[in-house]
Amino acid sequence: MTPAFKKAEGGLFGEVGKADVGDAVSALKENGIQLMSWADPFYSGSSYPEHVIEAAVRSLRSGEGVHYTMPIGSPELKRELAKFIKEYDGLEVDPMRNLIVTPGSDSGLFFAMLPFIEKGDEVMVIDPSYPNNLQNAEICGGVPVRIPSFAKDCYHPPIEEFEKRLSEKTKMVVLTNPNNPTTTVYRREWLEGLARFIVRNDLVCVADQAFEFPVFDGLEMTAIASLPGMWERTLTVCSLSKGMGLSGFRVGYIIADDRIMDKLHGTAVSVIGATNSAAQAGAIAALKNREFLKAYAAEHLRRRDIAYEALKDIPGTSLLKPESGFLSWIDVSALGSSDEVAAYLMNEAGAAVNSGAFYGEQGEGFLRIVHGTPGSSEELRRVMQRIRAALIKRAREKGIAG
Ligand SMILES: Cc1ncc(COP(=O)(O)O)c(C=O)c1O
Repeated sequence: MTPAFKKAEGGLFGEVGKADVGDAVSALKENGIQLMSWADPFYSGSSYPEHVIEAAVRSLRSGEGVHYTMPIGSPELKRELAKFIKEYDGLEVDPMRNLIVTPGSDSGLFFAMLPFIEKGDEVMVIDPSYPNNLQNAEICGGVPVRIPSFAKDCYHPPIEEFEKRLSEKTKMVVLTNPNNPTTTVYRREWLEGLARFIVRNDLVCVADQAFEFPVFDGLEMTAIASLPGMWERTLTVCSLSKGMGLSGFRVGYIIADDRIMDKLHGTAVSVIGATNSAAQAGAIAALKNREFLKAYAAEHLRRRDIAYEALKDIPGTSLLKPESGFLSWIDVSALGSSDEVAAYLMNEAGAAVNSGAFYGEQGEGFLRIVHGTPGSSEELRRVMQRIRAALIKRAREKGIAG
């Protein structure tokens, strides 16, 4: 077995600390625990707009959706995606040459890295990070190189931190923008500096934009692929799971220059097979009529505010106001280790949150709380009050005064 697989654990032979692996989730639900460790918007409410459900069902009934689409994705879906990408990312893409549809963006992230990373190649990843970025690099035989980021810099690591870690083996920078878990929407000026570093050193960039909308407080979402010199060296990986709330469809896509895309098209059957046909029909309907996105964005903002109000002034903790999506990232290091405080919240507040340690070396001492679940904002308000009360109690137990 390769080292990455030797190291991997799926929980069959022991306790898995992370609360988002198959059986662990069912067990939590059975015990009446509120799941806030699962980046699945509005889980477990039913959130799909009616016209989207209808289109998916119609595709099955008509017989179209019971067959494969082309492995590289439905041409109609790609045409709709191209319009959406122009509007959201300001990128002009040829739907037939610059896009591939993937079964969710997790597989897209892996596929984007695969052509470029050989044994020993170094992949720069901002820490804390979506954990797949580290594991994907290792599965490809590469070596993740962590670039630490801190709240004091609003999680924008100085570009010198990348420079310092550059070696002959550096091949790629993975940029999760907006970031999971910190929710950081990277500012244009900083991205321009990173882009210059990438171009100067002839690196490839994988830009994970699964959380590209909604972003809050008038912040600008800048696609790094739109910056000078970046188009031809960036694979932008996107998803319909997060802001669009269509996680169960498993539809994502990669945007890239046609010379890169030709390689992805040429290996699509081997690597991804094809994306679910009925889901693609539903995705087309969602993109054609996206009025519902406004309501979703408003709901995510409401939830962000509910969560932030509940967490912002707890003694011994600190957090930045979430900038995007539906996550809160809170420093609880004065109250114990990430694992201890997560376990405490499970017992005291009946809420399963993520231990920050799971997100990298900089994550120890933090918690990730997915405020995009539960099903309604009223439910969220109740559980956030329980979390607040539990953290205040924990602070008192630690002798930290309010
Ligand atoms: C940062 C980030 N990228 C990508 C994904 C993958 O999402 P999906 O496969 O549903 O598109 C996730 C899922 O949690 C994520 O958090």
